[in-house]
Amino acid sequence: MTADEAKKRIDQLTEELNHHNYLYYVKSEPSISDFDFDMLLEELIRLEAQYPEWMHADSPSQRVGGDITKDFPVVRHQYPMMSLSNSYSREEIVEFENRIKKLIDGEIEYVCELKYDGVAISVAYENGKFLRAVTRGDGEQGEDISPNVKTIRSIPLRLHKGDYPAHFEIRGEIYFPRANFEKLNKEREEAGEPLFANPRNTASGTLKLQDSAIVAKRGLDCFLYGMAGENLPFKTHFESIQSAGNWGFKVPKVEDQFIRVCKSISEIMEFIDWWDEKRKSLWFDIDGIVIKVNDYRQQQELGFTAKSPRWAIAYKFKAEQVSTTLESISYQVGRTGAITPVANLTPVLLAGTMVKRASLHNADQMEKWDLHHHDTVFVEKGGEIIPKIVGVDLAKRTSHAHRFIFPDKCPECGSMLQRKEGEAQHFCPNESACPPQIKGKMIHFTSRKAMDIEGLGEETIEQLYGAGLIRDIGDIYELKKERLLPLERMAEKSVNNLLAGIEQSKSVPFERVLFALGIRFVGETVAKKLARHFLSISKLSAARLEELTAVEEIGEKIAQSVREWFDEPVNLHLVDRLKQAGLQLEVDPESVKPKGNKLKGMSIVVSGVFQSFSRDGIKEVIEINGGKASGSVSKKTSFLLAGEEAGPSKLEKAKELGVKIITEEEFKQLLA
Ligand code: IVH
Repeated sequence: MTADEAKKRIDQLTEELNHHNYLYYVKSEPSISDFDFDMLLEELIRLEAQYPEWMHADSPSQRVGGDITKDFPVVRHQYPMMSLSNSYSREEIVEFENRIKKLIDGEIEYVCELKYDGVAISVAYENGKFLRAVTRGDGEQGEDISPNVKTIRSIPLRLHKGDYPAHFEIRGEIYFPRANFEKLNKEREEAGEPLFANPRNTASGTLKLQDSAIVAKRGLDCFLYGMAGENLPFKTHFESIQSAGNWGFKVPKVEDQFIRVCKSISEIMEFIDWWDEKRKSLWFDIDGIVIKVNDYRQQQELGFTAKSPRWAIAYKFKAEQVSTTLESISYQVGRTGAITPVANLTPVLLAGTMVKRASLHNADQMEKWDLHHHDTVFVEKGGEIIPKIVGVDLAKRTSHAHRFIFPDKCPECGSMLQRKEGEAQHFCPNESACPPQIKGKMIHFTSRKAMDIEGLGEETIEQLYGAGLIRDIGDIYELKKERLLPLERMAEKSVNNLLAGIEQSKSVPFERVLFALGIRFVGETVAKKLARHFLSISKLSAARLEELTAVEEIGEKIAQSVREWFDEPVNLHLVDRLKQAGLQLEVDPESVKPKGNKLKGMSIVVSGVFQSFSRDGIKEVIEINGGKASGSVSKKTSFLLAGEEAGPSKLEKAKELGVKIITEEEFKQLLA
């Protein structure tokens, strides 16, 4: 490819990928498969590496992140970012409307919007291109967090054609979609890391991360709700939002009921009532409704108080709150030994569910409320999934009530608890003999994503542990049929199934075995990285701290935890027993070495879905056979591998250029 051709191709890919990002993340109407998208993106990244001079500032390759920012520069807002005055009752909304009516002659329209519960952001555009994204900060100046915001795919890097001003700022709220937040917490749970409390704070923390590649993976999103600039070409706020939508921004849609122009207070109340009821079914959190005067001239007439505009108000939903009695506190011991205090409450109805327990997170939380026996506590369901204690009714505390004191010994095994410097959680250090830690480790070990041993779920582990048949992971592989048969619910068939499941787990690949061991901070992804880097458990166990941190995405904390695990003689003994049992403790060399050269020198374009391969899988097969998977059909394409629903434009292009098209069957024969 000549430099000229490369430039053209980079231009074309940039435009095409930006468009697909828009269709997927703003319109929710993707027109190509994820696989095809990844292929095009890979091609662009490859070309940009070769010809960095042709890379565009708005290249979609920036969406995957990779920039490391040590300190975010502080930037003064050209237009200050104010806040809204809050109201908590419908009467206050009526007062707001009355105030406006007194100050403005003529008809007044209002726009009602959702009050997104996230982090405010101001994104500046210059001549249609993303310039910078700045946090609210103190309203006067904030931090330039552009590299992180650029990873949010619904924020355009280049605008669609339109009548936008040469310079303007668009404002909105970055939020953590609930599903992505729950996925992140699940991964943390599996890695034995403390869970994040709620989507809003996690969005805020994520935006301040130094590594934008991590931000990219977390899946933040953004809704835009306003504009700042001179000579904006609109008469109303509603018009500005609609136009922003046409320029490529993700804005609320009327048909989703996310935004509505209201002509009367009763229409405003209808909007509030609707969302007070329906907000639980949204895929993101909102904490209220924002009501804004629609007409820009009227907005100007009303002006601002010191902190907030007079033309807008936020109606905040009441977080449902009840009071109940704190009966006791239990201390749960997790599989990594972390101690979590849990409040046991007199059952009480809250937001439709009966609440009996509330998480107290750690000793500091307990101290914050200075909890006493039989305290009357206020419980709230906010953004969090688990209800939390938000206060204590001191008036109801009896004078002789005793304070709860965080235990100094493990409630399960009696070991002295430890608390590491800088960590909020107490730990039981007795990893190898504390029952919930052993059972928790075994449950994790046998779980689906780890060793996937069918028939050895939580209940059976409890039973076998209770019967004294398993004391650690190694014992699982020494279970004998004759010892199992006498147990309850262990008929011949279930025992055979259980033993077959255990036998099968011996072929589970090394990376999953490593994840299954339950080393703190070693989740699925980290286990994969470590396994592929060190190739065997013996090499991994011998790795020094510096060798561990040299692996991509492995930081100090993970490295330390891995080192500590392998420094424990009991763990080394366990590894020996697992080796004896025949588990995979090395990467199968077949899976990393090129398998052959049947596709050597070939450039293959893949399109559609396949019977025997996943999208990633087929690409891997091409690569281990010496071929190259490429994103688009050209004269150089060796063949187009077309599955079901292959892209019509790719098929057409292949026909046009005389590129061979082969089926999945033919491809398999080629490799056979
Ligand atoms: S308009 C002059 N509209 O709520 C302030 N704000 O204090 C203009 N927020 O941090 C703000 N959803 O980030 C507006 N639909 C919405 C909003 C919204 C959430 C946030 C905003 C700010 C806070 C208001």
